[in-house]
Amino acid sequence: MLKKIIIAIDGPAGSGKSTAAKNLATKLGFIYLDTGAMYRAITLMAIKKGIVDDTQAVIEMAKNLNLNLKFENGLTKVFVNGQEVTDEIRSAEVNSKVSEISAIPEVREQMVKIQREIGSKGNIVAEGRDVTTVVFPDADVKIFLTASLDVRAQRRLREFQQKNIPITFEEVKANLEKRDKIDSGRKVSPLKKADDAIEFDNTGFTPEEDLEFLLKKINETLRSKGIEILNN
Ligand code: DC
Repeated sequence: MLKKIIIAIDGPAGSGKSTAAKNLATKLGFIYLDTGAMYRAITLMAIKKGIVDDTQAVIEMAKNLNLNLKFENGLTKVFVNGQEVTDEIRSAEVNSKVSEISAIPEVREQMVKIQREIGSKGNIVAEGRDVTTVVFPDADVKIFLTASLDVRAQRRLREFQQKNIPITFEEVKANLEKRDKIDSGRKVSPLKKADDAIEFDNTGFTPEEDLEFLLKKINETLRSKGIEILNN
C-alpha cells in the first residue's frame, strides 16, 4: 500500500526553505504548502483594513477569510476572497508586521486547521516555523534549515532587487533579526528545531546543492522507516 508522505521543513527567514520546498515538491510531484504565505495574506488584509493593532478584529477576520493557495509551475499563487495577492504579500510593509500577526494564538489555531486539512490529502512538502513541531509532529521527514544572518539577508536583498524594491542590506538584515527574535521568542509555537529533525546549515550552498543533499537525506530517512518513495 502506498503511504501518503509528509515532508516538513522549518527554519528562519531567508534560510532557503521556500526554494528547497518548491524544488523538492516539483521533483517528487508533491503538493507544496507555504505556511508563511498564509500568515502573510492575513497580515496584508489586516493592513488594508487598518486593523493591525486590533487583535480581536484580526482574529475575526482570520476566521472568515477565504484563503486559497495554488502551486503551479513552481510558483505559489495566493488568493484572498478570490483576489490574487501573490506579490503584495511579499512587501516590506507585510514583512514588518507579519511576525506580530502570526504570534496571535487564535490566528495560528485557524491556520493550523487549514494546514492539516491540506496535509491530510497526501504527499506534501510543507514549510514554515512550526510545521515540524506543531502542525505535523508525525511528519515522515523533518528538516531544520539554517544559514548565517548575513547570507540570509543577502538572499532576501536579491529578491527585493529583482522586484525593483528600493531597500538597503542593513534594512533587510535588521528586519530579519527582528523577525528571528519574535518568531523564536514567542510563547505559542516558537521557531525551534524538533528533536528528530535533520539540521542543515546551507550557508555557501547553491539551491541545486541543497536539493541534492535533502533528497539524499529524505531517501535515507524514508528507507530507514521502510517507506519507498517513487517519483525520483
Ligand atoms: O517564511 P516567511 O518569511 O514567508 O514567513 C513569514 C512570517 O510568518 C514569519 O516571520 C513568521 C510567520 N510564520 C509562522 O509564524 N509560522 C509558520 N508556520 C510560517 C510563518
